[in-house]
Amino acid sequence: METGQPSRTALAVAGARAQHQTLDDPRIFTDPLAARIVGGTEPAGEFDRGVDAEVARVRRLVIAARSRFADDRVAAAIARGTRQVVILGAGLDTAAYRNPHPEVRYFEVDHPDTQSWKRNRLREAGMEPPPTLTFAPVDFERSTLAAGLAAAGLDRSADTVFVWLGVIVYLTRASIDDTLGYIAGTKADLVFDYPVPPSPETRARAERVAAGGEPWLSYFTVAEMRALLHGFTLLEDRTAGDLLGEYGAPTAHPAAAGIRLVHATTR
Ligand SMILES: C[S@@+](CC[C@H](N)C(=O)[O-])C[C@H]1O[C@@H](n2cnc3c(N)ncnc32)[C@H](O)[C@@H]1O
Repeated sequence: METGQPSRTALAVAGARAQHQTLDDPRIFTDPLAARIVGGTEPAGEFDRGVDAEVARVRRLVIAARSRFADDRVAAAIARGTRQVVILGAGLDTAAYRNPHPEVRYFEVDHPDTQSWKRNRLREAGMEPPPTLTFAPVDFERSTLAAGLAAAGLDRSADTVFVWLGVIVYLTRASIDDTLGYIAGTKADLVFDYPVPPSPETRARAERVAAGGEPWLSYFTVAEMRALLHGFTLLEDRTAGDLLGEYGAPTAHPAAAGIRLVHATTR
């Protein structure tokens, strides 16, 4: 991210979710707040300008699929009794504003520059943060999740579900290790996505995003990810393409094979 600036990719992926609500059939992720939080801008285009329409469509579906994957696993955790949800690198995620459970607390962790921009966007959109939501500003590269969540009042001894979408690619291995180490020491479910080492398709996108100030720093093979998740039981590690098939939007496009979705647990 550029110093003092909010994440531009956060706006781009939120724009993709907003566009998904009206452009894609089937709609695999429903978010009535997606367009409202993005506002009047037309942001999804920033990193898809000049890109083949089919590639842009598959990218949008992948972004929708990962949010659906997370929402479904959070709902299952809540049904089992989990009462804390932590959204790591929240960007313009709207899960906390769609939460129908007054007894479930949400924590939004994000880079301070992105978080203060989001809070302005919420004001502009007339979206009042619910009383169940606490903001926790944390730069993963400069401070620890442990300190940020302790200050925000997370009960570390209680069951928690952590959602970490579209973030670890922008982080260094050291900060990914720190965050995983913290979560491994709690009673948690963890949902996140990661990119496998780049194909020509994903490399082209990575270069466009890097030119916008947010270089992709971390890729993992499946074996590397397994090794990184010591302390967790791996429940799922699937390609976005596999999920899209399950959600009724099958594609063999390589853009959907390069992103994997993980559900792991320490329970
Ligand atoms: C592509 S956006 C994803 C946002 C959100 N999870 C979503 O799916 O819409 C990347 C997010 O990672 C956050 N991020 C990147 N580097 C970070 C860092 N060093 N510390 C905290 N957050 C960071 C950005 O602020 C941004 O919100």
